[in-house]
Amino acid sequence: MVSRTIPVDPFDLVIFGGTGDLARRKILPSLYRRHVGGQMPAEARIIGAARGEMSDDDFRAFTREAIEEFVPATKRDAKTLEEFLETLRYVRVDAVGQDGWTDLRAVVRPDVIRAFYFSVAPSLFGALAERLHEHGIADADSRIVVEKPFGKDLKTARELNAVLAEHFTEQQIYRIDHYLGKETVQNLMAVRFANILFEPLWKTEYIDHVQITVAETVGVNGRGAYYDKSGAMRDMVQNHLMQLLCLIAMEPPYHFDPDAVRDEKLKVIRALEPVAPEDIVRGQYRAGGGRPGYLEDAENPESRTESYIALKVGIANWRWKGTPFYLRTGKRLKARTSEIAITFRQPPHSIFDHPEGWRENVLVIRLQPNEGMNMMVMIKEPGPGGMRLAQVPLDMSFAEALGEGGADIPDAYERLIMDVIRGNQTLFMRGDEVEAAWAWADPIIQGWEARGDRPHSYEPGTSGPEDALMLLHRDGRRWRDIRE
Ligand code: BG6
Repeated sequence: MVSRTIPVDPFDLVIFGGTGDLARRKILPSLYRRHVGGQMPAEARIIGAARGEMSDDDFRAFTREAIEEFVPATKRDAKTLEEFLETLRYVRVDAVGQDGWTDLRAVVRPDVIRAFYFSVAPSLFGALAERLHEHGIADADSRIVVEKPFGKDLKTARELNAVLAEHFTEQQIYRIDHYLGKETVQNLMAVRFANILFEPLWKTEYIDHVQITVAETVGVNGRGAYYDKSGAMRDMVQNHLMQLLCLIAMEPPYHFDPDAVRDEKLKVIRALEPVAPEDIVRGQYRAGGGRPGYLEDAENPESRTESYIALKVGIANWRWKGTPFYLRTGKRLKARTSEIAITFRQPPHSIFDHPEGWRENVLVIRLQPNEGMNMMVMIKEPGPGGMRLAQVPLDMSFAEALGEGGADIPDAYERLIMDVIRGNQTLFMRGDEVEAAWAWADPIIQGWEARGDRPHSYEPGTSGPEDALMLLHRDGRRWRDIRE
């Protein structure tokens, strides 16, 4: 595959929280990869901003270590690393006070695109937006990038939107949901809207149900303080799984344009039905295999926070009424895998004498790892013995099908940060979308809090709590096996 990378326009990217964990693990390594990929213009500059005292060279040393840790040795070399480190600057700023802002103003160039990455606690968003404005550092063309969690409920999300809106227009705000930056998640839109094959069948008449699974093997160790206030519903479902559901369920947008796509996603979220208590199963991993359980990881022996959740979700519109979407996500499960499985209905009538071997058609889109698609189809069992049916997979691995280009799937942050510079908001969440997702999630969370429900305990390294199996069994369906 031919690389078609075109450098973006010259920019200054200021990373508030420039020495934090996200900058170290994701933002700085992703920018370096884009430099290696030829997308960073020679005039690009990255400015780390944080409270600590540091020189430009200290920040370069910090970044070098981050790149050596998070970019595989085969994807980096001394020459490009030195070039990249040259683009870095560091400014000490106090988000809530006045220190450092005149220095920042002096460093940021007026004649290039200016982007400000708020990789800090949401409680600082308001102060940062105000300082940027007050010191004339941001202008009407500047962009700000904010990370999740975008609020913890509708009320706090509205407050954050209001605080940002005081100084920035919606077109300037880039709310990251890193799932949208994943190559295969974007592929969902290509698969749906660049093929005529699926669209005629893409509705409740032909689709029996949809399963969306995001399973992780890691626990919450190290992030217990944040996670215990959040849980799987807030941490994963309200944002990442919701986005996947939207991309599967939305109507074709009239154009691949930020607002056209986001308008369609918003309509899906607004059409979500309330979820009944019996359609929710929450779980918490216990200790096992020499590893601590959730309660120890969260350092809260009384915690009722879920590290696993499964939900049956209905969409009340013409296309989907009657097709349940089963969502599940959890930590410390048996494998790390994310996939969407679309199960089609039975043909209306069987013409065969031996229909026993018949199974539903299933379209599986594997998001990670081993990105690809798999379509389960029926064929005749080979050999004599009459017309007997067998199911076989039409299996496509993107890495194999696309050769080298397919194997080198970029990290979500690479795509997303470059989109910020390009001024393309298609893969970012709009304020009303985030609020609608909370408006759906809030009553679900409030429901179990009011009932005082406790999550079911589950064995680590399994598929989650037994009760989650029932969610499908009672509908005469089965979860797909969780495996890589
Ligand atoms: C993050 C969540 O948004 O997504 C984490 O806060 C989770 O809890 C992570 O582990 C999963 O992302 P990925 O890209 O590894 O699937």
